[in-house]
Amino acid sequence: GAPIDVDISKLDNGQLVRVLWRKKPVWIFKRDKKTIKNLMTLNSILTDPNSNEISQQPKYAQNLYRSINPDVAVIIGVCTHLGCSPTYRPELGASDLGGDSWKGGFYCPCHGSKFDLAGRVYTGVPAPTNLVIPPYHFVADSLIRIG
Ligand code: FES
Repeated sequence: GAPIDVDISKLDNGQLVRVLWRKKPVWIFKRDKKTIKNLMTLNSILTDPNSNEISQQPKYAQNLYRSINPDVAVIIGVCTHLGCSPTYRPELGASDLGGDSWKGGFYCPCHGSKFDLAGRVYTGVPAPTNLVIPPYHFVADSLIRIG
């Protein structure tokens, strides 16, 4: 599959765009400062908070944000359990997802796996690993090339 370019210049914080890359959905969204701060509070309830599983992201995304820039997320939207596409649930404190402890993330409707806004999987759900981060880089400040 050829690489694809995504212009993120008009993307607002929290707004998510979906593109297809190699027949897979890829999510791109911007994280504001509060969202980035919240990521730091979740480590104790995540399976692999430090992205030690090297198959799940390129080296440059092996960090807390799982991204090149903390404020831009690029994540393959395929659940690591059985391949459904999780739902974007960015709202804080969603009562059906744990109330106050929910800091926004993704919920897989198939068997209930939960991921945070860096695609890191919560403990105690069917999905064994974090969501996959595709290879990508910035061609310009607001232009991402995936692949
Ligand atoms: Fe997502 Fe099973 S496919 S929880």
